[in-house]
Amino acid sequence: MRKPLVMGNWKLNGTKESVTALVTALKAPADKAAPKAEVAVCAPAVFIGMVEQLAQGSQLQWGSEDCDIHTQGAYTGENSPVMLREFGCTYAIVGHSERRDYHKESNEYVAQKYQAAQANGLIPVLCVGESEAQFEAKQTMDVIRAELKAVIDLCGIKSFEKAVIAYEPIWAIGTGKTATPEIAQSVHQDIRAYLAQFDAEVAQGVRILYGGSCNAKTAPDLFKQPDIDGGLVGGASLKAPDFTAIIEAAVANA
Ligand code: PGA
Repeated sequence: MRKPLVMGNWKLNGTKESVTALVTALKAPADKAAPKAEVAVCAPAVFIGMVEQLAQGSQLQWGSEDCDIHTQGAYTGENSPVMLREFGCTYAIVGHSERRDYHKESNEYVAQKYQAAQANGLIPVLCVGESEAQFEAKQTMDVIRAELKAVIDLCGIKSFEKAVIAYEPIWAIGTGKTATPEIAQSVHQDIRAYLAQFDAEVAQGVRILYGGSCNAKTAPDLFKQPDIDGGLVGGASLKAPDFTAIIEAAVANA
């Protein structure tokens, strides 16, 4: 049984005040959901220490939006997986399309981040997904297979026993154009089928989240799909009532 996971991705948003209010408001919904669904927020690195303090005593988990491939050393501006772990992170998003695009992160580099996260006790949340042009050219699975294969080559298929995948069609991120539940389900099913070529048990066990304009309105139908195990939520994770409604949708379909 795969336990649903609802994860917020705050991106480059937040103030001390808004983070305090948001985390405080999410503790009770996370506790209520805990028997059936996990709830986590991924925060900009400067806020992670605050989130750790604020979330104490609740079931709310937290993580980072990225992590470096190195644990320490002369890498100005980076965040080490060891440091993230020290501040209580459970998860680290790796390979978000904004990083692949703006920071030119290759599939191989993302695989190294995934490996570094896992080696240091973080659960990597590997983002995969196609651009609008690739979607229209029906290249969705070609793109995703290459993204997954880089990780399988470096870390092995069994590594997905301790990882999460997030399918995020780039054309749906922050655009309000959510993939239909049918499109999302079919891609999630294809991802599982691809992984099953390497190991059927691992493919069945791995959680695959949907991300891309997942909100209080779209989440209920998305989460009803058999291969969608929760959501990676950007914009709608910044408002406690919206994110709480998404958590409730995951619980309802657990
Ligand atoms: P969005 O972002 O929910 O704002 O579309 C999702 C993501 O990029 O993780």
